[in-house]
Amino acid sequence: MNDIESFSALAAAVGAPARIRHARLLAWVRDIAALTQPDRIEWSDGSDAEYARLCDLMVAAGTLHRLDAVKRPNSFLARSDPKDVARVENRTFICSEREEDAGPTNNWVAPAAMHATLTGLFAGSMRGRTMYVVPFSMGPIGSPIAHIGIEITDSPYVVVNMKLMTRMGLAVYDVLGTDGPFVPCVHSVGAPLVDGAADVAWPCNPDHKYIVHFPESREIWSYGSGYGGNALLGKKCLALRIASVMGRDEGWLAEHMLILGIRSPGGEKRYVAAAFPSACGKTNLAMLIPPAGFEGWKVTTIGDDIAWIKPAADGSLHAINPEAGYFGVAPGTSYESNPNAMETLRANVIFTNVALTDDNDVWWEGMTRTPPAHLVDWQGNDWVPGCGRPAAHPNARFTVAATQCPSLDPEWNNPAGVPIAAFVFGARRSDTVPLVTQARSWAEGVYKAATMGSETTAAAAGKVGEVRRDPFAMLPFCGYHIGDYFGHWLRMGSAVDAPPEIFSVNWFRKDADGRFVWPGFGQNMRVLKWIVERCAGRAEAVETALGLVPRYDDLDWSGIEFDADRFREVMRIDRTQWEHEIALHDALFAKLGARRPEALVGERERLRRQISM
Ligand code: OXD
Ligand code: MN
Repeated sequence: MNDIESFSALAAAVGAPARIRHARLLAWVRDIAALTQPDRIEWSDGSDAEYARLCDLMVAAGTLHRLDAVKRPNSFLARSDPKDVARVENRTFICSEREEDAGPTNNWVAPAAMHATLTGLFAGSMRGRTMYVVPFSMGPIGSPIAHIGIEITDSPYVVVNMKLMTRMGLAVYDVLGTDGPFVPCVHSVGAPLVDGAADVAWPCNPDHKYIVHFPESREIWSYGSGYGGNALLGKKCLALRIASVMGRDEGWLAEHMLILGIRSPGGEKRYVAAAFPSACGKTNLAMLIPPAGFEGWKVTTIGDDIAWIKPAADGSLHAINPEAGYFGVAPGTSYESNPNAMETLRANVIFTNVALTDDNDVWWEGMTRTPPAHLVDWQGNDWVPGCGRPAAHPNARFTVAATQCPSLDPEWNNPAGVPIAAFVFGARRSDTVPLVTQARSWAEGVYKAATMGSETTAAAAGKVGEVRRDPFAMLPFCGYHIGDYFGHWLRMGSAVDAPPEIFSVNWFRKDADGRFVWPGFGQNMRVLKWIVERCAGRAEAVETALGLVPRYDDLDWSGIEFDADRFREVMRIDRTQWEHEIALHDALFAKLGARRPEALVGERERLRRQISM
């Protein structure tokens, strides 16, 4: 057989659409099908008709419930298995060739051993199911900053979520041509249907979950979970863990950052990229509506979770949002906290693990001040106020296309990205960390980001509310040794002529009675305004041990009563708390061993001296 004949035979064997000309891709699909033994292969085309057909199929199977056609048009509710509700960090692996390249913050297994485990798990894992081949682009299709992934999955829920979250469809194959690079992503819920066994509404594997990355071969394998970042492999797995490795090797950054634009009344526009750990209000900040007193200011949204940032010819760093939708935390989202998100969610949404109202709509904690008198909770049980159980799971989510967001920035799809003026690093801290500080140098900014600590949230399985070090909000997402990642960041400061300014923020400080001191949400605009004006060289600041800070009069207080005492409280730098904090930085540095960049040790010593002065 010649090459043309063998390609045709391969395409025919897997039933591939004529648009695919990529032999390696077809061979990979053939091999995965041989391993997982699905009943059939379906090549997803990303069309609206396909989306509608799969949603109908899942309604019939009980996976999706169709919401009221008037209140929430074309929207669905999914209830997951209670054992499959969040990312599983302790089951997430970075399988680099050498253990030391995964570093102290990742789980590691030798690639050969992990491949053997995966081969055992995936053997026959799709029996009785359809195997979908899902082509997607992270970033505008064809953008020089974008990368392509192909996800093979046995979950139609994943297919429809990928349609909302990525640029998914056959056009991706045109970019790939005959041998273009793609990240192969293999996903199975790990619940084969053997001998005609009946399916369940949310298939998953209660005993075995593996979210595995091979950074050298740039492959992703995920087994046993159908939920969020465990299963939508473009998001945390490709756009952060694998992309962070690509960025290290190629001189760019893949970050857990939202990107927003700020336009002043005079029409001046600046872009800010901000990193926060999961469920710290990134979607709220990305869609902020300026408060009373800020008439003429506008905040626009490029992305709410991930930024890919590359040096550009104009001497600045340019960023794109590799995603095309939002997979946001529902609880706490309301017309008070995030009106733009609520408008985004009016139609065409997949909700997961929220509560169902008696009029066939959705509700979650914080959506309205008074809960409805009766609900069906996220597990399908009757719920009444005061029953002692949350109605929505704390990590309940919405999936929705970015194009529905009223604050979407006109440049969101620009293949060249937008220039970043400031990086902001925030975490959830009841104490210790002031409302805002500006780093005096790139290295001081990298130090601040590297030593961030945050109280844990429900986005990941495990304990909630403990302070853990979460460098750059990347702890669960960095695909290589975190000490090398710090070194990469230090170097990126000199990759362009005009690196962004670096700031740290904390919206979550509490007073002695345990109440938040800072009102947050739209009021964060006051801090953002100071940040962009600092970048423009207009706002004032004074020096402290932690860097540059605004005085009371340096923030714009129009439209709010917030007195100087409360400002002092939210900006307080407490020596005892900082001595304790620096000891925790020491503990992080101790874990890095020889890969700890010396520049950060110097920053720590300077901080220690200045705090004790
Ligand atoms: C997310 C997360 O889903 O960070 O964005 O957990
Ligand atoms: Mn996130």
